[in-house]
Amino acid sequence: MNQRPPPPGIDASVPSPARIYDSLIGGKDNYAADRQVAARLMEINPNIQSSAIENRAFLGRAVRYIAGQGVDQFLDIGTGLPTRENVHQVAQAFHADARVLYVDYDPGVVAHARALLGKAPNVSVLEADLRDPDTILDEARRTLDFDRPVAVLLIAVLHFIPDADDPHALVRRLRDALPPGSYVAVSHTTADLGAETGDTATAEYSRMSSAQAVHRDRAAIARFMDGLEPVEPGVEFITRWRPDGAPRPPEHAVFYGAVGRKPLNNADG
Ligand SMILES: C[S@@+](CC[C@H](N)C(=O)[O-])C[C@H]1O[C@@H](n2cnc3c(N)ncnc32)[C@H](O)[C@@H]1O
Repeated sequence: MNQRPPPPGIDASVPSPARIYDSLIGGKDNYAADRQVAARLMEINPNIQSSAIENRAFLGRAVRYIAGQGVDQFLDIGTGLPTRENVHQVAQAFHADARVLYVDYDPGVVAHARALLGKAPNVSVLEADLRDPDTILDEARRTLDFDRPVAVLLIAVLHFIPDADDPHALVRRLRDALPPGSYVAVSHTTADLGAETGDTATAEYSRMSSAQAVHRDRAAIARFMDGLEPVEPGVEFITRWRPDGAPRPPEHAVFYGAVGRKPLNNADG
């Protein structure tokens, strides 16, 4: 919980996705307006907080899985505020030289990330919007080696891209630019477990914050994985995606998660 005045250029009265999420996962880089949205979301669905915490755990498991396949380059789009188990920390535990490019459109996230994460070796930070994939790819080609596999992480970010901005085309654009053997990991909110609370939560989120929130069903989320070889168990509620222990019930996390691998050649795909 942040009691200090916001840094220049940050409007603490307008709740942002990064700070709302930070408040849900118990971080301290959020303001009263962000906490109000978090509290309203919890009124609508008390599982929203556990969903955010489970989502962060899914991110860790996905990065560990991908790093365990030998991938040591990560493009993390929609990074969020620095917290525990940041992507480079998880990846560098597998590959000491793992490279990470963090990307977020929120200048507050980028300032924090540059201060806290950007000092780590092989880590860079870019302020860019997922809706501008070419800018992201240009920087990724500068900081990562596109002759070898790269993992693109789209964790809890695509539900801020409305259909009007064609999120599936954005993911295709990123996927097509990746070298063979690369990975794409996605997590995304869903209302498959409760349409009414899902609709109310996304409407309230969009009304109260700086972002448009949308939930999608399993089929729409599965389409983000088109052209990729699914990693077991495919598109699944995140609590059931390669859990470390006994999985919690899906209601604890209103998110689907999935990881896919770009085929090594066309014959594979
Ligand atoms: C809910 S947080 C998720 C953080 C982290 N990926 C995780 O799952 O723990 C969503 C992040 O996506 C960022 N974001 C939302 N829309 C974006 C866009 N169009 N381009 C880039 N970043 C975006 C927000 O600023 C925020 O930091």
